Amino acid sequence: MSAGPRTRVAILISGRGSNMVSLIEAAKAPDYPAEIVLVLSNRPEAGGLAHARSVGIPAHAIDHTTFSDRATFDAALDAELRAAGVELVCLAGFMRIFSAGFAEAWAGRMINIHPSLLPLFKGTHTHAQALAAGVRLHGCTVHYVVPELDAGPIVAQAAVPVRSGDDPDSLAARVIVQEHRLYPAALALVAGGRARLEGERVVIDDDRGAADAALLSL
Ligand code: GAR
Repeated sequence: MSAGPRTRVAILISGRGSNMVSLIEAAKAPDYPAEIVLVLSNRPEAGGLAHARSVGIPAHAIDHTTFSDRATFDAALDAELRAAGVELVCLAGFMRIFSAGFAEAWAGRMINIHPSLLPLFKGTHTHAQALAAGVRLHGCTVHYVVPELDAGPIVAQAAVPVRSGDDPDSLAARVIVQEHRLYPAALALVAGGRARLEGERVVIDDDRGAADAALLSL
């Protein structure tokens, strides 16, 4: 994605959508390289849908429970994204696994935020996983989505300390603050064409971009 017209972005959510809000806020800046044109949720009750609508962004649910199988749901999602002219998809707490076909169709055009320093602690309960492993640093990662869960090329990471006395909730509270900094920075890099895929890795051309992609909050 090159500089010029803003990249048309859809955000996919399943819940409260606090990362979605951080992306929407960032995209209000006139020089931000992406515009949020659509918010979709697989859950009708997702709190983030109302927020998106309140700021004038088309937002609705595609309820996965009404589809007979994963591929049919993914096809409906794909059709909505194409109809809206979406160029890049941001997963923001979207808690549903895609069929390989969907992930391949959007390969290189779909990113996700995951609450751990990948490749550590894939899947769910990442904060409990980090505490159980005894790591001193934890954090979050923005990565390209590939068919394998939480395994795609890494765009950006933010690290936080693990403090004595932390439990999964206190650690999650520290990480989510960094998620809200990291995701807008990572989307700006991708949409602005400053981070690009080269095989299995993401290359960032400039030092300032590299700094935006590696946040520390110690
Ligand atoms: C965030 O912590 C995000 O990293 C995580 O879900 C939360 C969603 O919060 N995503 C995953 O675990 C994806 N596997 P939000 O709805 O407030 O953005």
